[in-house]
Amino acid sequence: MSIQKENFRFLRYPGGKTKLLSYLSEFLPKNIEGKYIEPFVGGGAVYMFLSPEKALLADLNSDLIDLYRGIKNYPHKVWETYYTFPAGKSGYYKIRNEKDIKAPLYYRAAKTLYLNRTCFKGMWRHNLQGDFNVGYGGEERRWVISHKNLIDLSKLLRKSEITSADFHKTLANVATGDFIFLDPPYKPGEKEMDHAHYINGRFTFEEQKRLADRLKEVSANHDIKWLMTNSSHPSIRDLYQDFTIRTIPKGTSNIVGVFSENSNEVLISNY
Ligand SMILES: C[S@@+](CC[C@H](N)C(=O)[O-])C[C@H]1O[C@@H](n2cnc3c(N)ncnc32)[C@H](O)[C@@H]1O
Repeated sequence: MSIQKENFRFLRYPGGKTKLLSYLSEFLPKNIEGKYIEPFVGGGAVYMFLSPEKALLADLNSDLIDLYRGIKNYPHKVWETYYTFPAGKSGYYKIRNEKDIKAPLYYRAAKTLYLNRTCFKGMWRHNLQGDFNVGYGGEERRWVISHKNLIDLSKLLRKSEITSADFHKTLANVATGDFIFLDPPYKPGEKEMDHAHYINGRFTFEEQKRLADRLKEVSANHDIKWLMTNSSHPSIRDLYQDFTIRTIPKGTSNIVGVFSENSNEVLISNY
């Protein structure tokens, strides 16, 4: 059972792929013999859509990974805490500004979820001291998620290994039969590339090259398949000349069949 529907977004996440699901679904595997691996998991739209039997989820954003771990292990406590956080602007700033380094995992997970659902535009930004510093956005998106959503997600996450890691480490763990979905931060200069969104700063072109090199190595094993969304920038296309590159149409999820402009994104795969 897939727990991600196109109209449900667990997290508001910069670069989230929920809107692309109907387009992507055509290119996703029907069966995965080994593990589903997602090295830049973010809001996990594709993972939840596929709801795989075995998965490895990773991201460099450790607050995000703690949120997944909190829901995996303590869905009820996360919900109870989330539920009792205050409504309104002053309540938001009170919770946002708490120093809670020693708070238990379930509390930190609930807080991250609360801030994500009530902050301005779902931004994910920290100051130099590492404190989340996005302003208040409102309550409208807070109750879109329910206790049941967290329980369903927890059941799915129990079948998954979740780790805070650089993509290189994650891609060292691939094996025959695995399927990898990759959605790295895009190349600087294009619309989606506001790197202030990402807690870990810039994803440089050197890292894009590192990623491409690793995916070439992985592709030597024909029983490992991967699919990636990336910028349509010529320098990215150049890195993947040996693979299949499709331009992703704009507006794909909203009006099926009406594609006018490019999205500035490509879909790249080794199959
Ligand atoms: C475009 S977002 C992924 C969005 C996701 N597909 C979704 O649907 O929400 C890219 C993610 O890569 C993570 N990231 C940035 N640099 C990374 C690195 N070197 N290794 C692993 N993850 C990284 C960011 O924290 C961010 O969560």
